[in-house]
Amino acid sequence: MDAIAKLVSGEGSNEISSFQKCKHLLSQKARFRVREKTRAEKIKATRLSQCYNKELIGQGTFGQVYKADCKDPETGDVRKVALKKLKMENPDYGFPVTALREITLLKKLRDINIVILEDVYPSRESVKNGGKGSFYLQFEYVKHDLQGLLEKNVKFTLPHIKSIMKGVLKGVSYLHNSKVIHRDIKGANILINEHGIIKIADFGLARVIFPENELNYTTKVVTLWYRAPEILLGYSNYDYKVDVWSIGCFFYELFTGDVLFKGSNDQDQLERILEICGTPDPKIFKGFSKINEHYQKKFLENPKKGRLREHLVSKNCEFLDLDCIEFLCKLLTLEPEKRLSAYGAYDDDYFRHPPRACPPGEIPLLDKDTHEYETKQEKKKLIREKERLEKPIDKISDATNRYATQGKRNNRDSFNHYQKRRDNRDSETYQMRHKRAKHTE
Ligand SMILES: Nc1ncnc2c1ncn2[C@@H]1O[C@H](COP(=O)(O)OP(=O)(O)OP(=O)(O)O)[C@@H](O)[C@H]1O
Ligand SMILES: [Mg+2]
Repeated sequence: MDAIAKLVSGEGSNEISSFQKCKHLLSQKARFRVREKTRAEKIKATRLSQCYNKELIGQGTFGQVYKADCKDPETGDVRKVALKKLKMENPDYGFPVTALREITLLKKLRDINIVILEDVYPSRESVKNGGKGSFYLQFEYVKHDLQGLLEKNVKFTLPHIKSIMKGVLKGVSYLHNSKVIHRDIKGANILINEHGIIKIADFGLARVIFPENELNYTTKVVTLWYRAPEILLGYSNYDYKVDVWSIGCFFYELFTGDVLFKGSNDQDQLERILEICGTPDPKIFKGFSKINEHYQKKFLENPKKGRLREHLVSKNCEFLDLDCIEFLCKLLTLEPEKRLSAYGAYDDDYFRHPPRACPPGEIPLLDKDTHEYETKQEKKKLIREKERLEKPIDKISDATNRYATQGKRNNRDSFNHYQKRRDNRDSETYQMRHKRAKHTE
């Protein structure tokens, strides 16, 4: 470095030799850096090639999630991992900001109820990937997500539900305590492992907040059905309580298997909430003066009392007893100031009343891995199958009608040919078809 300093200041008689020394030093350093870089890339590439048996388990906005077997290069042990492959749609836009958030936040957060981010590495450019490289986030693998389990109609009793709720509230309290809001709490982002331990995942929309400073946050967050009313009303200085609203909506789903506010767009979602929860009280809701002016006027001119309690009672659901309804009403309060905090909910008397939450290990879970993506795919397949089974019957009736009206024998042959072409039909459809054919003969 002395040589560089001398060179910069231009002092010393043996400048040439210093300059050469310095050049030599720098080129050595650069070569070392390149060597280090390729070594690091090799290690990362090895890490990725250590993962095999990749199976798609999630397809989100920000990329695909795979389940894979990962071999420890040192011990040779094989374990399951989840690999989130990032969508790098346009490399000119740089590294996706959502992934950057997810990585920086998850590196800091360490709790039993938060999914562990184990590693991040690039993948090589591949033809399969349109000639582009990509990035993988490697997570601990968690066997189920709650949306997948709900869609599989897994039957939970009250102690099971309470145990799940406690896990979710504990995880989210930890986040809030660390000044992080999740902003996308929903069943598909709440994972549960084979021991019944809850793991909050998907930190693509999460961020650190500073409640003491009046900052504006984007209102383009949270999946519509779980979005808090203050966000829908355009209030951008929201806080941790937006997560509590989402938790309330999800808990209702745990009890009933149904979505509480199933809006089709922002406006419809808000109308549905206001219809049942009434209008916010301007004396309680601090952000009232900052919400959409149209709504401010409407609420002042025509204040409405909420009827959430009555609405929930009318559902007549087995586990939605008065105790539970009281608790849900405290989570689904319109004014964020009056809404319970995540820790307040975790510590609520509701969990001290019998029946108590069971230990996580007693929550009944399926042997088969269950994720929202697979269950959705299975459902879609069933619908397609149903449509396929219904379709031939129409076509058959068309064919038989043609045969009956025209009275031509050769039409029957074409009908038989049509029958043969449809290879995988069940016997019931076959019988129906034969019956119809006979009937028209
Ligand atoms: N660590 C994990 N172990 C097992 N499954 C996981 C894991 N992480 C995510 N998944 C599955 O993959 C799905 C999508 O993951 P994630 O929510 O992180 O991706 P995303 O791109 O943000 O998706 P979306 O846009 O749908 O929220 C999850 O709903 C879950 O079923
Ligand atoms: Mg998600």
